[in-house]
Amino acid sequence: MILIGGGDSADVYQIGHGRVLKLFKDNEYFIREYEACKYMGDMTSFAPQVFNKVCVDNKDGYEMQELIGELFVDVIDDSDELEYYAELMGQSHKMLHSWDSRSLALPHLKERLRIYIIQLSHISDDIKKWGVSIIDGLEDGRSLLHGDYMPYNLMYLDDKLTAMDWSDAMLGPKEADIARTLYFIIDPNDYEDAKYTLNSNKFIEAYLSGYYGNEIPVSVIHRWLIINAIIELDRFLALRVSNKFTQRLDDFIHNNLKEMGSDYLFE
Ligand SMILES: Nc1ncnc2c1ncn2[C@@H]1O[C@H](COP(=O)(O)OP(=O)(O)O)[C@@H](O)[C@H]1O
Ligand SMILES: [Mg+2]
Repeated sequence: MILIGGGDSADVYQIGHGRVLKLFKDNEYFIREYEACKYMGDMTSFAPQVFNKVCVDNKDGYEMQELIGELFVDVIDDSDELEYYAELMGQSHKMLHSWDSRSLALPHLKERLRIYIIQLSHISDDIKKWGVSIIDGLEDGRSLLHGDYMPYNLMYLDDKLTAMDWSDAMLGPKEADIARTLYFIIDPNDYEDAKYTLNSNKFIEAYLSGYYGNEIPVSVIHRWLIINAIIELDRFLALRVSNKFTQRLDDFIHNNLKEMGSDYLFE
């Protein structure tokens, strides 16, 4: 078995015959992810097919179809065409959102988030209630959302992108998925040396232009970014992480609570 990828929660190995094996470090996340990814592989033509469950050295895992190509984060890092690839990612994200999602039985993002925000333990009740009121004011939407549409979850081949890691897939408004991507691009705590992190403003501008052209719904994306900021600040506080970026999130949330639109997370 050749290790080809992975992160905090799992390792991914090439096992031949067009398959990879994803083995979980913590078996707690396994079943939910297995079921979600299997469902997406069975129901769509673009998510990798998920095959059998396996257990190796007491670690749970599953076999899936190997996607051929180069990991998009490496493509970007090895090239000087940051804006070209950011635009491609925007176009490809848009194509994903236009997939006919009627046959998909997935959780609805807004319903999930309302419940999720209310039970956060490191955020004040005022901010949680405000967060829920923002969600209530945004469109429901029924687009297929990936939830982590980022260069480290995309395989690049022949100028096309295919998404992996479908464990957070839901139905909801496109802008929620776009804001999630923007949040992850802005957050310097993950992939801090990646070109898209080091040039986040330039990357975001080209990504949004690839998705929307010139008509970017800034105010809706801004509201979804506030929701992301609340959720992620809670996660940082729970992990006792405190740095310039967590302070930035805190300021961003409080400035907008005082006056919506008085502070933006990206330029
Ligand atoms: N179906 C696949 N085909 C080829 N490589 C894959 C596949 N799934 C995952 N990988 C590789 O493993 C890495 C981690 O996989 P991923 O499912 O995103 O795990 P994690 O939950 O740790 O983020 C990916 O970035 C990619 O390099
Ligand atoms: Mg991943």
